[in-house]
Amino acid sequence: MAGSTIWFSLLLAAASARPATALWPWPHYIQSSDQRYAILPKNFDFQYHDGSAAQPGCSVLDQAFQRYRHLIFNTASDSLTARTGKQHMAEKNTLIVFVVTPGCNQLPSLESVENYTLTINDEQCFLLSETVWGALRGLETFSQLIWRSADGTFFINKTDIVDFPRFPHRGLLLDSSRHYLPLSSILDTLDVMAYNKFNVFHWHLVDDPSFPYESISFPELSRKGSYNPATHIYTVQDVKEVIEYARLRGIRVVPEFDTPGHTLSWGAGVPGLLTPCYSGSEPSGTFGPVNPILNSTYEFMSTFFLEISTVFPDFYLHLGGDEVDFSCWKSNPDVQAFMKKKGFGEDFKQLESFYIQKLLNIISLYGKGYMVWQEVFDNKVKLQSDTIIHVWREETPETYSKELELITQAGFRVLLSAPWYLNRITYGPDWKEVYLVEPLAFDGSPEQKARVIGGEACMWGEYVDNTNLVPRLWPRAGAIAERLWSNHRVTDLEFAFKRLTKFRCELVRRGVQAQPLGVGYCEQEFEQT
Ligand SMILES: *[C@@H]1O[C@H](CO)[C@@H](O)[C@H](O)[C@H]1NC(C)=O
Ligand SMILES: *[C@@H]1O[C@H](CO)[C@@H](O)[C@H](O)[C@H]1NC(C)=O
Ligand SMILES: *[C@@H]1O[C@H](CO)[C@@H](O)[C@H](O)[C@H]1NC(C)=O
Repeated sequence: MAGSTIWFSLLLAAASARPATALWPWPHYIQSSDQRYAILPKNFDFQYHDGSAAQPGCSVLDQAFQRYRHLIFNTASDSLTARTGKQHMAEKNTLIVFVVTPGCNQLPSLESVENYTLTINDEQCFLLSETVWGALRGLETFSQLIWRSADGTFFINKTDIVDFPRFPHRGLLLDSSRHYLPLSSILDTLDVMAYNKFNVFHWHLVDDPSFPYESISFPELSRKGSYNPATHIYTVQDVKEVIEYARLRGIRVVPEFDTPGHTLSWGAGVPGLLTPCYSGSEPSGTFGPVNPILNSTYEFMSTFFLEISTVFPDFYLHLGGDEVDFSCWKSNPDVQAFMKKKGFGEDFKQLESFYIQKLLNIISLYGKGYMVWQEVFDNKVKLQSDTIIHVWREETPETYSKELELITQAGFRVLLSAPWYLNRITYGPDWKEVYLVEPLAFDGSPEQKARVIGGEACMWGEYVDNTNLVPRLWPRAGAIAERLWSNHRVTDLEFAFKRLTKFRCELVRRGVQAQPLGVGYCEQEFEQT
């Protein structure tokens, strides 16, 4: 396209100028100039294009207007009374927001359009989008464009932005099983996700160590399987609060209930669900994965996932399917007999497939789509063509690229997480490595590349709880957010470092305990000009 050279020179111009603002993630097309307009907080309003400040039933934007007013001006109580346009500055009093297809009460989905354009010039201060979700992304960009001079005056420069996401699925995984995360810390994370234009919260709710989800159909699961059934659980009401809080920020909530492995915590609440392991000819008293040979297992899964399908409105459920340990199945004589009867020989992958297949059939009956970890594909489980495969195995770029190639060749859509395990930390600027990952760097046709729908940053919880979650996540997850949102040519580390450093200061100003990227300091009070 003809725009590419223009685009690139704009990028360089913005990089070499001393930008008073720093956008994160970087928009697809931006042109800005030194022409600036003052913004006086007490005069400033967000408005719909019909002139109203609120629209009946449009909670998504009504609330976003209030949030962004607070985010932009909250540290400015001093200047709310101060210094009105003494230099007769050109002033902007209103951001007009025009959403072509309002639809305010819906849920965001994988298909949601998040495009927007933002135009700030002598004539207008205008945000245009197809959907409310695009308007949310544009409001965030607008908030990042505003800067303050040394005397505390707010300014916005003449700017043109045309922006849209590179990938439709830009997720963050939190693990609330290894450590329980308080509801407030999940809600706070959703806020920061929205600042980064992330749009999927992958909630890895339960795992071996604890089962904090309070099921309506099987309350014993959390009563016996959580760390503390009074304090360390999420009620259905809590879950609904998370889903609505996320929706208001244009974020989908995809829950993961991983089976047949990673299910130790399920066992206490549902006797008979897990496979008894044997030591010789005697049960050893320990338990393995979900028992795939019993009808009662599938009866349980049918009821349980009917509830989950109802409580979580997103079209997709994440069904896990990773790291199934076969040793317990191997030790159990009933399982061995079942294998023989089915003609599986010694191939326990076939038994795993048998289980997953039955589970997927159940989920399909409920009209849901599913995501699974890559082993389900690797083990050749028969999958519906709309299944999304999640690549996680942390090997080398060569191995996960090969995996992307094979999955897309087989016609499936795919998500990348393998290089994005943020729970792993090293000394120094480790954001650079995750930043430079290129999800489409594998051999494949354009059709194959189009099947990569995005990726997810993962924050596994073995060494992470509410004390260190925030600084470990931010701004490091921002590097992945930009990779998934911005043009693939936005890879200049110096340009990224400058903007991410400023963005991190902005996060701190917004009350997020984001860790520093290196030596330096934040201008907490205002940006120097
Ligand atoms: C905004 O304009 C001011 C001068 O009015 C200039 O110093 C600054 O670099 C401009 N910022 C951007 C991002 O263009
Ligand atoms: C959103 O932007 C992308 C990239 O320019 C474009 O392909 C797509 O058609 C746009 N969608 C809408 C609804 O404007
Ligand atoms: C399990 O269900 C299958 C199919 O409905 C049936 O043929 C089989 O007898 C059942 N097994 C037991 C142990 O109830």
